[in-house]
Amino acid sequence: MEHNKKQDYSITKTDRVGLNRHKPCLIWFTGLSGSGKSTIANLLEKELHKQQIHTYTLDGDNLRRGLNKDLGFTKEEREENLRRTAEVARLFIDAGMVVIAAFISPYNSIRDMIKTIVGEPYYVEVFVNTPLEICEQRDVKGLYKKARAGEIKNFTGISAPFEMPLSPTIEIKTVEVAPEDAVKKILDVLEGKL
Ligand code: ADX
Repeated sequence: MEHNKKQDYSITKTDRVGLNRHKPCLIWFTGLSGSGKSTIANLLEKELHKQQIHTYTLDGDNLRRGLNKDLGFTKEEREENLRRTAEVARLFIDAGMVVIAAFISPYNSIRDMIKTIVGEPYYVEVFVNTPLEICEQRDVKGLYKKARAGEIKNFTGISAPFEMPLSPTIEIKTVEVAPEDAVKKILDVLEGKL
């Protein structure tokens, strides 16, 4: 299928990483809409930035306004949304950066694909575990109400599945753990990695 040969460039990932005082990786947040992924991702990035770590955040809502604006929410479209995102993350890792990503990413098979694309050693999975009832009660964006009314189709948790992650690196139960403490937990794991 592939007829294009890889071009080699002199400056390598090792060279680029050598300019930084940390290694690259991907911190992938998965969880329901309104579970708190973006809130924790944002706090984490602030903390890493303070430590002079080079970061970039990819967020589902934001990427769907540009790169992925042609995609909806069927399983196939989510897969393409997340495949492109993982490829972008791979480029950022190649550039030497710490990538933070916040996407519902509701299927185990698709999370496996993401891990394969970026490479297992670089992949840190954070499951933001907030019960559906709580996400729906909060309904920050008013989307659960619309989904219940049938105005939004394929809505995760209502009319589309969310498969619980099987072996996340870190699980955050937001009912029990404050965002600041969640960030501490993630930083502890990252310490051995970065
Ligand atoms: S993913 O499943 O493909 O990973 P992604 O994280 O990019 O989803 O986008 C989820 C965001 O899109 C939600 O936070 C919500 O704001 C919005 N959204 C709109 N329609 C849906 C839907 N049918 N299911 C889930 N989220 C939706």
